[in-house]
Amino acid sequence: MDRSYRIRQATEADRDWITYAVKRWWGSTEMVSRGRLHDLLSLSSFVADTGSGCAGLITYRIDGGGCEVTSLNSSFERRGIGTALLDSVSAVARTSGCVRVWLVTTNDNLPALGFYQRRGFTIAAIHVNSLRESRKIKPDIPLTGLGGIPLRDEVELERRI
Ligand SMILES: CC(C)(COP(=O)(O)OP(=O)(O)OC[C@H]1O[C@@H](n2cnc3c(N)ncnc32)[C@H](O)[C@@H]1OP(=O)(O)O)[C@@H](O)C(=O)NCCC(=O)NCCS
Repeated sequence: MDRSYRIRQATEADRDWITYAVKRWWGSTEMVSRGRLHDLLSLSSFVADTGSGCAGLITYRIDGGGCEVTSLNSSFERRGIGTALLDSVSAVARTSGCVRVWLVTTNDNLPALGFYQRRGFTIAAIHVNSLRESRKIKPDIPLTGLGGIPLRDEVELERRI
């Protein structure tokens, strides 16, 4: 891949790639957070465009003074793509009058917990055993996550903007 990329709003022309990529990363285009089912394809998103394809995606939604990041993925890690996508959403959120960017990750995702905290996010809440409720909405959420850790809790992180 070309090492350079440009962050831009996703368009209808990206829909096929987003569908393919999200299914590969998450197994489905639907995501549950805080008891709500989100169709990632219907949310706003930015992509990292390399010129010959896309190499990262962030989806988000703005609601009630907050901006929730509903997914963040990078195809080529450690090149700044994840940070750049996050910063693009923060800029839109700020312009839209949001006071915080927030997200939930799961208790197994130790790399993500490090990634976000190094970027100024703090833990706002730990929703203990909330995946039990999430599975009622989306039964195919696995029981085990990264590193064989039981998938159990949502960790809510936020960054004031
Ligand atoms: C979390 C995730 C989005 C990060 O994406 P990324 O593109 O690797 O992010 P960045 O490149 O901006 O940052 C990752 C690391 O690479 C480093 N880095 C950035 N540019 C670099 C470069 N040119 N050379 C070397 N390292 C670099 C960053 O400093 C960072 O390290 P740090 O966290 O210790 O500071 C990615 O790992 C991912 O897709 N994970 C799987 C999905 C997931 O868990 N998503 C989050 C939960 S919703």
